[in-house]
Amino acid sequence: MVTLTNVTWLDLCLGGVGIYLLNRALSKKNPAPYPPGPAGRPLVGNIPDMPQDKPWLTFTEWGKKYGDISHVEVLGQHIMVLNSVKTAVEMLDKKSSIYSDRPVLPMGGELVGWKNTLVLLPYGDRFRGYRKNFHRVIGIRAAVDIFHPVEEIETHRFLKRVLAKPDQLQAHVRHTAGAIILRISHGYEVKENNDPFVDLADRAVDQFSRSTATGAFMVDIMPSLAKVPEWVPGAGFKRKAREWHSTLEEMVAAPYKFVKDQMAAGTAPKSFTSNLLEDRTLSEEEEHIIKWSAASLYSGGADTTVSAIYSLFLAMTLFPEALKKAQAEIDAVVGSDRLPSFADRDSLPYVEALAKEILRWNAVVPTAVPHRVIEDDIHDGYYVPKGSLIIPNIWFMLNDPRTYANPSEFNPDRFLANGGKEPETDPRTVCFGFGRRICPGLHLADASIWISTAMSVAVFDISKVVENGVEITPEVDPSSGTISHPKPFKCSIKPRSAKALALIQLDANY
Ligand code: HEM
Repeated sequence: MVTLTNVTWLDLCLGGVGIYLLNRALSKKNPAPYPPGPAGRPLVGNIPDMPQDKPWLTFTEWGKKYGDISHVEVLGQHIMVLNSVKTAVEMLDKKSSIYSDRPVLPMGGELVGWKNTLVLLPYGDRFRGYRKNFHRVIGIRAAVDIFHPVEEIETHRFLKRVLAKPDQLQAHVRHTAGAIILRISHGYEVKENNDPFVDLADRAVDQFSRSTATGAFMVDIMPSLAKVPEWVPGAGFKRKAREWHSTLEEMVAAPYKFVKDQMAAGTAPKSFTSNLLEDRTLSEEEEHIIKWSAASLYSGGADTTVSAIYSLFLAMTLFPEALKKAQAEIDAVVGSDRLPSFADRDSLPYVEALAKEILRWNAVVPTAVPHRVIEDDIHDGYYVPKGSLIIPNIWFMLNDPRTYANPSEFNPDRFLANGGKEPETDPRTVCFGFGRRICPGLHLADASIWISTAMSVAVFDISKVVENGVEITPEVDPSSGTISHPKPFKCSIKPRSAKALALIQLDANY
């Protein structure tokens, strides 16, 4: 991950002086105090306080010190960090008409072009158009049911890949997530190796992370640099932005063309895109919205579920008790003559609880995606000026001892009613974000995680590897970045029995 070290302190100070003086010249008396937070320094404000590595841990410390809302200022940009679900709901849900914009990111959003995908799209009519499309196709749990066969077949294929090459688990998780999402977004069936669309999406998503990394590009701090011509020494970021822009354009256009060609030939299977294109003459704006909302589905869904499913295998390696309980439940309810399917979901409460604990224990998007407020607000007596960024600390909300008993413990039982004890809060009410920006892929993500959990534990024994007589315990060390992944780890994955092996080897075709 690129960090602020690419930018010299002199650059920051020069930029900072200008912004500081401008702010002072324009400043008027605030209608209320800012929320409390670390004290800013002259000129650089809170730059030195901004964490680069695992920011959720620093944000959690701020929560303990300053309460549920804390405030910092970085070169004139106000940032509010939220450390409780209650505050996040009060601001981002209840006042969603003003708290649903996104930050402007000069490098990743503007120059590379990611502001055309839903995650960075400014709040407004286009935003509503994208969200309407998402809602129409995958907005409610029942709508996602029509994609259950895709989820089941692709997850069965995943089991086959893991059986064949268990040491390449992470690559199989990634390939399967790409296969499911491309089938749903564009009706495209991926190739087993080197699929051009999966490779393209992987490259584009990686470039997204790099182009939007905090502090990676000077142009994010001084947006006027965007006007500098490419040939000017030091303007290498412009060449990079041009190259990354063309990857993004290709990632959007190539699968869209695939659907149109298939529809023209009458061979297109049902998908998000074919569903929206059916029997319609489209304006240019409508076509833009369909094309880019399909790409948003595909780029939003590719990396997130990867983190969750990879962390399932990490948890199963570390917590054999939970694996055994889930296997016992599946043996009792489903038996060993078939794989579990979505039809079994309501009869498998422990597997359900396990899937929930995976989402709580490994926060996939630990600091969410910042919301931006479009009007001045006073919240709980504190001033939140227009343009402030709001960062919900989802990691802490999922580890808040006020909500979860012994939060650092991996314990699926917390979600089961037990001896008169109420189940703890469903993490799916938190981990997908808030308000009008809540993750529109949540039902699809939930289905993918559940079926991967059920099928994987049904057929595999997952345990620590033994090397030279020594058992290797994987480290729990999630990566920084908008989407956090478990640190790569080794584990042993073997079919549980001859019957389990035979089930994996059955055909998995559409
Ligand atoms: C474990 C899986 C996932 C988690 C934990 C997750 C979490 C999140 C979170 C926290 C946000 C930001 C919400 C906010 O701003 O308040 C978000 C946004 C988004 N997610 Fe997900 N997500 C997951 C899977 C998916 C999938 C499968 C898709 C696509 C099918 C998807 C598509 C999106 C999109 C397009 C946005 C941007 C929404 C907007 O800005 O309006 N996500 N997600």
